[in-house]
Amino acid sequence: MERTLVILKPCTIQRGLIGEIIARFEKKGLILEGMKMTWLTDEILSEHYAHLKERSFFQRVKDAMAVCPVIVCCWKGVDAVNVVRTLAGATNGRNAAPGTIRGDYSMSVQENIVHASDSQETAAIELKRFFSEDELFNYETKNLLSLYA
Ligand code: PPS
Repeated sequence: MERTLVILKPCTIQRGLIGEIIARFEKKGLILEGMKMTWLTDEILSEHYAHLKERSFFQRVKDAMAVCPVIVCCWKGVDAVNVVRTLAGATNGRNAAPGTIRGDYSMSVQENIVHASDSQETAAIELKRFFSEDELFNYETKNLLSLYA
């Protein structure tokens, strides 16, 4: 089982898509281990997007993530990092395949509905950035686990 981080971006909150996007991950069979609404600070965004600090859109990406609160989620499942990224689709919503979250809901490279960790290593770092261990819950999901057989 892997854990991965998903952030529902401000565009998702502002467009009233929270339920629809969470439903995509739930219906797939991922297990929700943690979820909270939080307003991201410039400090945490600078850390989260540090790999983009030389890019022309660094400030833009940070500003867009701070226009309103976001929802951070920890999803668990076999191969969860890849499963979530497949569900999310290509970064640029205009290129993302129909049927993916971004392909169905986004026309933008920035306002692209979700952030999703890109590897297990990144997921571990990002989950620590947004959650304390006591905010993540390990509980029985007998019905869900039968879907993994
Ligand atoms: S890159 O260039 O390969 O590092 O980019 P990528 O990993 O695809 O995207 C990283 C995040 O940057 C956002 N992004 C942009 N924002 C604004 N303008 C432009 N041109 C742009 N290009 C990429 C993109 O939404 C990614 O955000 P996260 O939160 O990681 O999904």
